[in-house]
This record gives sequence, C-alpha cells and structure tokens, in this order.
Amino acid sequence: MVRDNNPNLINFTFIFSNKRTSNLGVLLLFYPIIFTMNQLQLIVNQIFTDSFNEKPMIVRSPGRVNLIGEHTDYNGGFVLPAATDKSAYLAISPSVTNTGKWVSVDMGETVEINFDEIKFYQNHRWINYILGVVQQFENRGMKIPPFNCVLAGDVPIGSGMSSSAAMESAVGFALNEMNGFGLNKKQLAQLVQQAENEFIGVKCGIMDMFASIHGKENNVIRLDCETLEYQYFPLNLGDYKIVLFDSGVKHNLVESEYNLRRQQCEEGLTFFRKHFDESVKNLSQVPLSWLQSSKSQLDPIVYKRCQYVIEENQRILSACENLQAGNLKDFGIKMTATHEGLRNLYEVSCKELDFLVDAVWHESSVLGSRVMGGGFGGCTINLIKANAIDELFDRLSVSYKQNMGIKLKTYSVVTANGTELVICD
Ligand code: GLA
Repeated sequence: MVRDNNPNLINFTFIFSNKRTSNLGVLLLFYPIIFTMNQLQLIVNQIFTDSFNEKPMIVRSPGRVNLIGEHTDYNGGFVLPAATDKSAYLAISPSVTNTGKWVSVDMGETVEINFDEIKFYQNHRWINYILGVVQQFENRGMKIPPFNCVLAGDVPIGSGMSSSAAMESAVGFALNEMNGFGLNKKQLAQLVQQAENEFIGVKCGIMDMFASIHGKENNVIRLDCETLEYQYFPLNLGDYKIVLFDSGVKHNLVESEYNLRRQQCEEGLTFFRKHFDESVKNLSQVPLSWLQSSKSQLDPIVYKRCQYVIEENQRILSACENLQAGNLKDFGIKMTATHEGLRNLYEVSCKELDFLVDAVWHESSVLGSRVMGGGFGGCTINLIKANAIDELFDRLSVSYKQNMGIKLKTYSVVTANGTELVICD
C-alpha cells in the first residue's frame, strides 16, 4: 500500500533495505539471548556510536499492561494500565546529510531514508512506526530535519503489551526533545495515537501510548479516556503478583476485527443519540437501562458489543474502589468477569486464550484471569499468589502444550516509569 497522494505527506525514498550493518554481525545473531533490558540501552548506544561516530540521545519507552478496562478507551471510558520494564530503546541524532539512516536491531535491517517521499512499507513494518510519527509532526507544521536512529526493544511483539506504541512513543518523545517543539505529554500521546490511527491504520484508542508516556513505577494509571484526566493508584498487591501467560498466538490488529468492533460501537452510540439523548458523549456513558429497553430495535451483535462496553466501564470503576480498599479478591473476580464479557459479548478471545483462563481461574492461588489488550491472541493477565506461580506455570505449560500444541511463555510484570531520556556513559 503506497499512500503518496496526500498533500500533507512529506516524501521519503527507500534506498536500501535488508542489509545488516557491518558492525552488528555476530553480536546481533545472539542478541535476543544475551541482552537484557539495561543492556539494550548500551547496545543501541554502541551501534549508534560505531555507525555514526557521535553520541546519540537515548530514549526508553515502555510497553504496558492493563489491569482492567478493555476496549473502553475508544468508547470514552476508563482504563487502568501500568507501564512495564519491557521497553523500546531509541538512539537518535540529527543527520548531517539530507538523508537519515535507520537501524532496527530486532529486524537486523538498515534503511536509508531520503526525506522526499513518504510511503507505507508493507514488508518493513517497523519503518512505518517511525514515519507515521514524523508525518504527524509535519502535519502540525513542525518540520522534522533528517535524523539517524537505532532501535531495539524487549517488548514481546504481538503479545498485547503494545510494542508498537512503545516504539512510536519513543520516536515522538525524542523528536519533540531534539527539535525543542515543547509538546506536553498529553499532546504527545495524542500525536502518537493519531500516527497509529492514520498511518498504521489501527483505529486504536489512546490507552497504550498514554500509559507508555505517563507510566510511574509501582503505580497504575486510572485514565478517563474522554477527558484525559488521570490519577495514579499505588499498586499494592501484597502476596500477589501480576503474571502474563503468552498464548503464542500473534494478533495483528490491522487484519483483525478490531476496527470492526469500533464501528459496531459507533453504530450503537449513533442509535442512543438518535433515540435518547443527542448530547451523550460516548458509549461508556450510556445507562444500561437505555440498552435494555432497546433490545428489539438494535442489531443483536451491536447489542452485545454495547452491553460489554457499558458493563465493563461500570466494572472498572468498582474494581478501582476494590483496589483502593485493598480488596484484591473482588478485584480479581471482576478481572475474570471482564474475560467472560470479552469472550461472549465482545467476541475478541480465541480458544487458546480461553483455555489459559479456564485452566487457572478456579485455582485457589489465582484471584483473576483474563485476556489482555486488543485480543485475538497475545497474553492473559493473571493475579497469582507469588509462591504458587512456578508450580502453576509448570502445570499449565504441560497441559497447554498437550491441548493447544503451543509452548507456553510467561512474563512477570515489573512496573516502571514512562518514556524518558536515559544516560549512557
Ligand atoms: C489495543 C488498543 C488499545 C485498546 C486495547 C483494548 O491494545 O491499542 O487502544 O483499545 O486494544 O483495550
């Protein structure tokens, strides 16, 4: 797909791709095995310095988890995400020529970009995440001079932890800093969301980039996606930990039914505006009674989607009260209720995710379990008693392999600060 007929587009030319930079060599061959989070910032720094002979600015931008409040963001509802230690790392500096050289450590690719033509690169998707953000600055009248960059990350791709938002937020943050544009964090999150919506084509809400940019260690963020007002809540889980089980099913939100869900919600909202109150701002604010009294008039699919969204938005608010009161048991019950809604009403689960939830939710060591993020694959998020995690994972991986034929992976979640500059000496 080439999108070159938009007058707002700046132009880039793709000069070469798929060439491993000479200095990556053997190092990159072993990169996924050898390097851990802190080492990633050293790696991007090293590759940048070797390639361009100068010290770059380095930005770390985290992936996110979401405790509860799924598919509510683009419906003007609440979400409860936290930034994680798994992050994208970007080393960047202005280019002294008319072109920029961009290196993806994870893909083993280097491209040289001529700032003349902008295109969507079907087979080199990582480039689009940078270009989309560049385009949004340019659309706002903020000219982006050519730059060189090196990217790497350890946010698992397609796992529902928002690796793309992490990368886009890193690029947005860096370009804002480097060029002194002075956008604040909210504006940056909006810019990045627009890049994802317009250039990548996923009509996502603002949760992922907002969480990535605003994250705070040991805290979750309760974000009102209608007003963008937010509040940090300390994450006190006592003996429990957040654990992700990765189904190994890769989701692709562009090709998935994500955009269709959004359309169905818009259809519902249009109905409520027409028949009840024109001024209702979003679907999350629609009272359940309006929905219930409209059953015979609404398309059954649209009805189910609306029911899920309205219930989920109410659920997250009372789940937040549970969290504040230290009532983790009721919080966990609500997480599992969210899964039921996502499975039966919103229909964004899949058999692998259902298997992972069904296999653990009744365990005495598990408070709650549900699919996390957009769905159709990726991870489940679970609240599990710390001393039971290993044994549960061992058992679950055996039955998952036997039943689904997939090797189960797990990530324990460590919360972290949002997008930031990091110093490498
Ligand atoms: C994806 C999107 C988010 C949000 C979640 C579902 O992660 O990027 O905006 O809609 O799905 O809650």
